[in-house]
Amino acid sequence: MSAGKNELVLVGPSKPVVARGLAGFIMHSLAAGVTGKTLPAGLAHVRGMVVTGAPELIGEAWFAHFPKLEIISHFGVGYDRVDAVAAAKHGVIVTNTPEVLTEEVADTALGLLISTVREFPQAERHVRAGRWLHQGYPLSKATLRNRTVGMVGMGAIGQAIARRLDAFGVPVVYHTRKPRPQLAYRYYASVIDMARDVDTLMVIVPGGAATRNMINAEVFEALGPDGIVINMARGTVVDEPALIKALSEKRILSAGLDVYVNEPDVPKQLIELDNVVLLPHLGSASVYTREKMDQLVVDNILAWAAGKPPLTPVVETPWRSWTKA
Ligand code: 8YV
Repeated sequence: MSAGKNELVLVGPSKPVVARGLAGFIMHSLAAGVTGKTLPAGLAHVRGMVVTGAPELIGEAWFAHFPKLEIISHFGVGYDRVDAVAAAKHGVIVTNTPEVLTEEVADTALGLLISTVREFPQAERHVRAGRWLHQGYPLSKATLRNRTVGMVGMGAIGQAIARRLDAFGVPVVYHTRKPRPQLAYRYYASVIDMARDVDTLMVIVPGGAATRNMINAEVFEALGPDGIVINMARGTVVDEPALIKALSEKRILSAGLDVYVNEPDVPKQLIELDNVVLLPHLGSASVYTREKMDQLVVDNILAWAAGKPPLTPVVETPWRSWTKA
């Protein structure tokens, strides 16, 4: 093994599957909240990094600090906290954890959609507060029965959600940057045009600069007063103040959110609204699926350490070889 290949930097919390799987390496855990400006000295020789939770965008400052870095094994399918373009420039391969979480996240998306449409969390609060003794819970204003879901994003998870909606008899259309001719669903080049034609949006695009605030006041207006927005992507994709305004002014009917701009700090205005269902970013969060994600983090590092191709490199950093000066 070349120098530095038996040492790793861990960014984020330690996890049992990762700790066990990588027990053969010297693991340098960064203190919580360390940023590019406060990175500790003495680690310039390290060639592998494991990211289980990034405190900020891992960008230029980090690559300058770790000049020998060859791999960032990132936990999670979304890697918007790593500047993968900068990584490619510095010869660093970024891996993520796709596929193993697809069905779990799609299950959660359907749960959140139905909970939002049929107001299950609100109804449950009604029972717990003892209000049912005096009054039945009102009929839900919305139903899935006459809805059309506009998918914002149609990657592997989007398609798994669409398959579930097919089984539920709910029509599906989609918007992505480029059409996917192999899919049988109607395509919209414009998210506004799609929002005008549907009453439900399922947001499942990658986060990052390209999608920041793409679901904004104009989209809510196009969606209209029966509109429901489900965000399973990243908080940054939805303009949060505009969403709060649209929900408060009843310009849309309701929303179901798994993600927020500043997690875990959910805006007080959202918490106070009754027409929004709030989950604490748990799309993939079962023991079963998280262990599979953890294992993929480990397996990418083990492949790298053995000089083999990584299992799941991201598109910006395709594998060519591990040799770095
Ligand atoms: C994780 C996710 O909850 O994989 C992702 O991109 O959003 C989730 O599965 C997240 O990575 C945890 O930080």
